[in-house]
Amino acid sequence: MRIIGIETSCDETGIAIYDDEKGLLSHQLYSQVDLHVDYGGVVPELASRDHVKKTIPLIKAALADANLTSKDIDGVAYTAGPGLVGALMVGASIGRSLAYAWDIPAVPVHHMEGHLLAPMLEDTPPPFPFIALLVSGGHTMLVEVKGIGEYAILGESIDDAAGEAFDKTAKLMGLDYPGGPILSRLAEKGNPGRFKFPRPMTDRPGLDMSFSGLKTFTANTIAANDNDEQTRADIAYAFQEAVCDTLVIKCKRALKQTGMKRIVIAGGVSANKQLRKSLEELANKIGGEVYYPRTEFCTDNGAMIAYAGMQRLKNDEVADLSIQVRPRWPIDELEPIKG
Ligand code: KG4
Ligand code: ZN
Repeated sequence: MRIIGIETSCDETGIAIYDDEKGLLSHQLYSQVDLHVDYGGVVPELASRDHVKKTIPLIKAALADANLTSKDIDGVAYTAGPGLVGALMVGASIGRSLAYAWDIPAVPVHHMEGHLLAPMLEDTPPPFPFIALLVSGGHTMLVEVKGIGEYAILGESIDDAAGEAFDKTAKLMGLDYPGGPILSRLAEKGNPGRFKFPRPMTDRPGLDMSFSGLKTFTANTIAANDNDEQTRADIAYAFQEAVCDTLVIKCKRALKQTGMKRIVIAGGVSANKQLRKSLEELANKIGGEVYYPRTEFCTDNGAMIAYAGMQRLKNDEVADLSIQVRPRWPIDELEPIKG
C-alpha cells in the first residue's frame, strides 16, 4: 500500500510517498524562508498563497521521482492541524480533492503525531513505550507514549514553545529568521561559563515548562554588555545551554516518574546538536537510550505526514467529503491504533 503525504501547516511545503513494505519512496520539500525573511517571521497570508503555488508541482515531482503515477497511490494524507488555519486549508483542500478525483481515501493527520512518529522512518526505530519530548516552533511537550495514538501529556510549556523562544531570542539579538538554527550556530563560538541564565521552573516539582522569561533575561544581558561578536556568541551559548538544561531536567523527571529509560526527541528543535548531546549524556548516565529523526525530518516535512497517515489509513480513519482542519488540536484526543 502506498500513500502520499502533504504537509502545509506552516512555512514548509512537504510532500512524500511512503510504501508500507518498501518505506519512503520520495520526499520533496520547499522552504519559504526567503519569502518571510524580510518580515522577521512567518506571514500567514503569504505562507498560504505560496503553498497554493507549490503543492501540486511538488506532488508531481514526488510521483516522477518515485517513478509512479496517481494510479499507484492508495491514499492521500494531509496535515489537518494544529497549525496556521489558511496554510492547513491549502493542504487539506488539495489533499481531499485529489483523493476524490483519484477515488481513494483521504486521511487527516495530526502534525505533532507526525513529528512524534518521524523517528520510525529511521533504520533503528524506537520500540514502544517511550517518553517523547516534542519541541517545535509551536509546541513543547513531554508525552508518555505507549503505542501509536496512546499519548498522555505529562507536561508542556505554559508560554512560548522552545523553538519560539529560540526564534524570538534570535530576533532580539538581531539575527535573521528562522532564528533557531542561526542562534545555535552562533552559540558554537561561545565561551561556556561567561553568562549564566536561569533554568525556568526547575526549582519546583512538575513537568510543565516556561521559556518566555529567557527572552527578557537575554534582553537585559544584551543591554548590560558590549555588543561585540564574542559577547553575542557567549550570550547565545548561555541561552541555548539554559534551554537544553531545562529540557534535560524535565526529561529526567519524566523518565523517573514513569519508570522508563527510553526517550524520543522530535520537532524542529530536536535538530539542535547541544540538545541531542545533553540528552545522550543523560541516557548514558541512567543506562537509557535516545532516538531522534535524521536532521531533515526534525523540521517540518512530508515524510512524517505520509508515515503517520499510513498508520491512520490502516486504522480506517478516513475523512468524509467535507474539508476540515483543526488549528488547535490536542494530541491526547487521538485514538489508539486498533490491534
Ligand atoms: O517542527 P518545526 O519545523 O515547525 C513547527 O512545527 O513549529 O520547528 C521549527 C522550529 C523553529 O522555531 C526553529 O527555529 C527551530 O524549530 N529549530 C531549531 C533548530 N532547527 C530548527 N532550534 C534550535 N536549534 C536548531 N538547530
Ligand atoms: Zn512542525
